[in-house]
Amino acid sequence: MTVVINMRDGVDARKIKLAARFILDGKLVAFPTETVYGLGADALNERAVRRIFEAKGRPPDNPLIIHISGFDELERLASYVPNEARLLAERFWPGPLTMVLPKADEVPLVTTGGLDTVAVRMPSHPIARALIGESTSIAAPSANISGKPSPTLAEHVIEDFYGKIECIIDGGETAVGVESTVVDLTSEKPVLLRPGGLPLEELESVIGEVEIHPAVRGKLTDVAKSPGMKYKHYSPNASVIVVEGKRENVRRKIMELVGEYRALGLCVGVMATEEYDADEFFHLGKSEAEVARNLFKALRELDKRGVDVIIAEGIEERGLGFAVMNRLRKAAGYKIVWA
Ligand code: TXA
Ligand code: MG
Repeated sequence: MTVVINMRDGVDARKIKLAARFILDGKLVAFPTETVYGLGADALNERAVRRIFEAKGRPPDNPLIIHISGFDELERLASYVPNEARLLAERFWPGPLTMVLPKADEVPLVTTGGLDTVAVRMPSHPIARALIGESTSIAAPSANISGKPSPTLAEHVIEDFYGKIECIIDGGETAVGVESTVVDLTSEKPVLLRPGGLPLEELESVIGEVEIHPAVRGKLTDVAKSPGMKYKHYSPNASVIVVEGKRENVRRKIMELVGEYRALGLCVGVMATEEYDADEFFHLGKSEAEVARNLFKALRELDKRGVDVIIAEGIEERGLGFAVMNRLRKAAGYKIVWA
């Protein structure tokens, strides 16, 4: 029922044609992008898009991103493309940036979760580009069951969807590891709806100051703009605790917490940028980029090792650190320990 296509050695034109056929027939295909794996369907086919929501268990008011491979598709999907959008596309596409624009009539409301706006992104991953190019514009959320950490390996997609979708393309590990940055360009000022693979600093270097939507910081006030923000996210089965503060203090605090939870008889996992002595340990790497790449894998992996509690070391919020901390705090349900 599920065809797994191995493309770890790069784009294979014949295999791409096979996967593109599935998309054009209204079927579901999971594929790698440079951020995370996506669960794709023809963006303009309502029935196909509805199946994405069913397969993920995703609430119908949480809109999908449409992935394109050429600028002509942007003109077709958006009713109006403001100048900032053109500047950003020129500079950062293909890449980990999603822009929210007024939607064209052709885009079904199923795809946009009932909104009159549409989110569009041109991914840079060669497999994603080839698949879109060979089929059509593809609506794709991250290829995980709703609420679970996003997939950065085909194995993660297989865990969640084997037997439930027609095709999974295995393109190896994704490079960025966190999802795209989402910016809303439909209001007076650009608004950041989700920090992601393109650092905010870079976005602002092109269009000036960008407002940060309060939900990005966990304030669930005005969620109408991006309904996705009100749902539970990135949660492994274990409970997650994030420890933030000055580096030396964080280290001491994590060791203290490991001791406390162990004394209660719990199995404790730590994910951090330096070594810790715990029941299970996952090294996230040193740089922000490495931490971003390993983050979701670490959450899934520690879960698989059966820990009861995951203690995660907080990192600085600059660059990709903003996206990392946003995911970690959500994974923790905002259970943050300040050291
Ligand atoms: O990197 C990514 O963006 C990955 C890969 C597969 O491209 N996709 C992804 O999709 O993360 P998803 O569905 O997991 O997250 C999309 C986010 C959600 O928070 C959703 O609410 C928001 O984008 N979004 C989509 N359309 C929107 C719209 N019209 N207005 C506001 N927010 C929107
Ligand atoms: Mg997602």
